[in-house]
Amino acid sequence: MCGIVGYVGEQDGLEVVLGGLRRLEYRGYDSAGVAILGPDGSLTVERKAGKLANLEKELAERAFPGTLAIGHTRWATHGAPTDRNAHPQVDCSGAVAVVHNGTIENFGALVRGLEERGHERSSDTDTEVVAHLVEERYTGDLAAAVRSVCKDLDGSFVLVIAHRDQPDLVVAARRNLPLVVGLGDGENFLGSDVTAFIAHTREARAVDQDQVVELRRTGVVVTDLDGNVVEGESYHVDWDTSAAEKGGHEFFMLKEIEEQPAAVRETLGGRLTEQGVLHLDELSMSDEDIRDIEQVVIIACGSSYHSGLVGKYAIERWCRLPVQVEMASEFRYRDPVVGRRTLVIAISQSGETADTLEALRHARAQKAWVLAVTNTLGSTVSRESDAAFYTRSGPEVAVASTKAVIAQLAAMYVVGLYLAQVRGTRDADEVRAHMHDLEEIPSLVEDVLSRMEPVRALARELASEERVLFLGRHVGYPMALEGALKLKELAYISAEGFPAGEIKHGPIALVEEGTPVVVIAPRHALQAKLVNNVQEVRARGARTIVIATDGDESVTPYADTVIRIPDTKSLLAPLLTIVPLQVLAAEVARARGLDVDQPRNLAKSVTVE
Ligand code: G6P
Repeated sequence: MCGIVGYVGEQDGLEVVLGGLRRLEYRGYDSAGVAILGPDGSLTVERKAGKLANLEKELAERAFPGTLAIGHTRWATHGAPTDRNAHPQVDCSGAVAVVHNGTIENFGALVRGLEERGHERSSDTDTEVVAHLVEERYTGDLAAAVRSVCKDLDGSFVLVIAHRDQPDLVVAARRNLPLVVGLGDGENFLGSDVTAFIAHTREARAVDQDQVVELRRTGVVVTDLDGNVVEGESYHVDWDTSAAEKGGHEFFMLKEIEEQPAAVRETLGGRLTEQGVLHLDELSMSDEDIRDIEQVVIIACGSSYHSGLVGKYAIERWCRLPVQVEMASEFRYRDPVVGRRTLVIAISQSGETADTLEALRHARAQKAWVLAVTNTLGSTVSRESDAAFYTRSGPEVAVASTKAVIAQLAAMYVVGLYLAQVRGTRDADEVRAHMHDLEEIPSLVEDVLSRMEPVRALARELASEERVLFLGRHVGYPMALEGALKLKELAYISAEGFPAGEIKHGPIALVEEGTPVVVIAPRHALQAKLVNNVQEVRARGARTIVIATDGDESVTPYADTVIRIPDTKSLLAPLLTIVPLQVLAAEVARARGLDVDQPRNLAKSVTVE
């Protein structure tokens, strides 16, 4: 959480940094700030509680010339989200300005030392200690001072630091959290991710663990904490800038929902040879090792976890391999049984989620083979895994994940089919047939998207509800969880998802006259049982909203509202049922007058455990 930006070049520094912060605001939005080094040698710090727009309003009242700037958008950890706790934080003299993503775990001890040495704190943040420590250790070489300070810090951090006496230098340091360098011509950039600078350059360089970056107009030097220069390779980012713009939509999320056909198409693209053989070179495991796999363990958080649950159904069905799916935050703390013959799949849109990262580190330490399924090239999760399968959904800005999740679902089906092909549990014809079914999905998603007007109308009706239940069976169950998560995170409505067969063991007690119950009921072998469950809740007064396949009338007599989706193979149905659930949640939030892209208390990349 927290977005950081740094810039040095010829352009107006404030404009560049604010542009970057706008794109990074999904990482945190409870306060924001900038520091600009002026042509007169002044270092001006402006910061403000609330969303970036608050800061921008204030900045609009004056000019802040300068071609070197740093900026921050915050998700508070230490200290309430107030003006004084917003970043940049400064030292006693106001010469050093620091923005920070992460937490400095030993900050209490560092603060005591600083206070004994006469420093005065002006905030409640852990970040401020860095400014004071740099102040103490700076003797003209800012990078050397930062390297020295980093050695004394425990925890996770990305730091970006400017000094009043250094008009051509921004210094950054990284441990555990994301930092990317943007390489320009006569200008260079720093960002939490590439969206911070893709409006200016597509050439990027990743920064590794415990490295320090010296960013100047004419070049970038990266060193380890001992000052040894480390060479690194740049890579080209092919996301276009419009992908990170709203493109006429009121919210990013609504645009990203519309982009789902392309996300699936791109993720599936080019995997079948002309002979119909499925390729997944990204897994980079030998066929022998794949045949030796004894179990699959999927670790993820939030919506990515729901993609993992669907992956379990597909992999178990096609590969006859036991699959466990676990919330990454729980995984490593229960001493899980994984080893050399375990394939661990870490699913993470951002590739930066701390829980997922720690879980995969634990799995690798137990010698498991870790495949990352991530949307972010060069992310920490992908770099620390043995292999990476990139979902190609483009940058996702809205906090609630949509197009990245549908791409994860597609990726999980591909992984399942590939394992089945290599292990011989499905023959070539069957693998090819399933891939062809998958290739139909993008146009079916387009079809679903064209039918969303009744869902919008329904959303307006549900906007005043306090509780909504979601039911599903088989792969409909993870979608019930996803529908409920979306509704609670976006609309702040108490929403829960259950396996439909389980409601009689407790949840049905929640049903009262008029309680909305959304049932994910596409055509399936368990249809008759699901119809019974719909009847059970309806008999107790529920208002039933049923997602059903075109032409399937088995459930309609018990549905107050029917949302239709086209037919597909029942195992693939989540790729279609997920869409109305997303639209419903976004539209309920919109009807309640809420910020669909930036729900309260949340952040898109959760980089703390
Ligand atoms: C946050 C987001 C969710 C996301 C989850 C996992 O909670 O709000 O939308 O599913 O993190 O993120 P990841 O980047 O690891 O997929």
